[in-house]
Amino acid sequence: MTLEDKLKGSIQHDLLFGTHKFELEDKHLENCKVVSNRINLLDYLPKESVCAELGVLDGKYTKEIISRTNPTELVLVDIDSDIENVIKGDSVEVMNTFEDNYFDWVYIDTDHSYELTKKELEVCSRKVKDDGYIALHDYIWYDYFNSILDDSDIYFGVVKAVNEFILSREDYEVKYLTLESGMYNTIVIRKINGTER
Ligand SMILES: C[S@@+](CC[C@H](N)C(=O)[O-])C[C@H]1O[C@@H](n2cnc3c(N)ncnc32)[C@H](O)[C@@H]1O
Repeated sequence: MTLEDKLKGSIQHDLLFGTHKFELEDKHLENCKVVSNRINLLDYLPKESVCAELGVLDGKYTKEIISRTNPTELVLVDIDSDIENVIKGDSVEVMNTFEDNYFDWVYIDTDHSYELTKKELEVCSRKVKDDGYIALHDYIWYDYFNSILDDSDIYFGVVKAVNEFILSREDYEVKYLTLESGMYNTIVIRKINGTER
């Protein structure tokens, strides 16, 4: 049995043998700015706006969102949180309770699986305004450090879900990409016909 046969149907197979099928094209990256990290990224996202963080954990990034962007409304969602002001529930289900075009931008940082990220992109593309942004943390294939910690291989599906989404839609492009020292990068996408802010 070849390695390709052995991995067939798995995310590892996509990583090693299938990347060309959902590789972004140069036109999707023409207006992309590379930013040092996700904290500084917040300086480029809309200020005093309506935004959401999907996946809050202990609220570390929430504090940065508040101090750097001063939102008029910040919707916080986590499936397993007892933090005050966090809506406890599934990201997709909670987002579906808002009207379309409600948010200026959304930051997605939940379980990083292909299946959930795909659904989150679909719902966020409806709930975010035409000139808004969808940011996704951990645009990477493999969680290097937590894999060492857990002594197991942790693969993420964010790259596949994001690239497939952009390729299938034709009206989205990459606006920002962070190049973190630990390579836990964030990608920000937006509608091509959205008004420049
Ligand atoms: C990586 S942590 C978020 C970290 C946080 N954004 C930060 O940067 O500090 C992921 C969080 O997503 C939550 N989560 C996982 N699956 C979820 C889902 N389907 N809906 C909402 N939250 C989810 C987990 O409970 C966890 O707290």
